[in-house]
Amino acid sequence: MDFKNRDVISIKDFSKEEIIYVINYAKKMMPYAKGEKHIDILKGKILSTLFFEPSTRTRLSFESAMNRLGGRVIGFADPNATSQKKGESLADTIRMADSYSDVIVIRHPQEGAARLSTEFAESPVLNAGDGAGHHPTQCLLDLFTIVTEKKKIKGDKIVLLGDLKYGRTVHSLAYALSLLGAELSFVSPESLKMPKEIINECKEQGPEPSSTSNLEKAVKDADVLYVTRIQRERFPDAEEYNRVVGTYKVDINLLKYAKEDLIIMHPLPRVVEIDPEVDKTPHALYFKQAFNGVPVRMALLSLILGDRQL
Ligand code: CP
Repeated sequence: MDFKNRDVISIKDFSKEEIIYVINYAKKMMPYAKGEKHIDILKGKILSTLFFEPSTRTRLSFESAMNRLGGRVIGFADPNATSQKKGESLADTIRMADSYSDVIVIRHPQEGAARLSTEFAESPVLNAGDGAGHHPTQCLLDLFTIVTEKKKIKGDKIVLLGDLKYGRTVHSLAYALSLLGAELSFVSPESLKMPKEIINECKEQGPEPSSTSNLEKAVKDADVLYVTRIQRERFPDAEEYNRVVGTYKVDINLLKYAKEDLIIMHPLPRVVEIDPEVDKTPHALYFKQAFNGVPVRMALLSLILGDRQL
């Protein structure tokens, strides 16, 4: 399996076997991600983090992953503090980061920006989210979390809830889960349904997903409930956002319908869609899920940049 110097733009860049390989490799990274063991296989390597959109988890977990591997990090979290403000193009910004570092992580509001960046960089480019497009490393950490908690994905009943139209994490995840044989159910407001092309992709490679607006019914059978935030920043119309926000809420009352071993996931940040009361229940997996970004990103960085592996 050859990951060396590869760009990671979409989860579709990986075969099923490669996804499983990364998940298994991430398991080995766990004690290093927790700081219980130490490793320096990326000593001398530099990661650029170019964040043209806000982030807490993706940026910090990439930084943590690179540091845990013995590498170093440069970058920015505020594009207004860069020469983009003076009119510099994305292409020139990428050329600069390419000359200063060995791997580039980019988050950008425009779909396609990460793919475009690969044209201006010799170093590998990792997509940390491009508009409503893809978020492949989030997808890998989501899959890692499900495999770690449920021991398998094939046959699991997984409900994707919330903003399925603009939520980039669920687009990558629906594709990958169907590839791995999960039974998917989509629950969303009518105006935020999963795009047809993604439903068709799911159908082509796995069981046909079902759609419903009845959350209680969907939760009854579920092994995993994956909740997403309504993506306010992607709405062309604020009134439409106000109409749909708060349509679905995961709270203690809903959990009365759930199986004992249901896990609740969320890529975070959450706003109003999960009541904080749920955090105290054994169903709440979202903070552990966010931590899993570290071993998964360690695994990827190591496979892409490392001269030796664990
Ligand atoms: N899940 C995720 O992408 O979180 P951030 O926006 O905080 O990076």
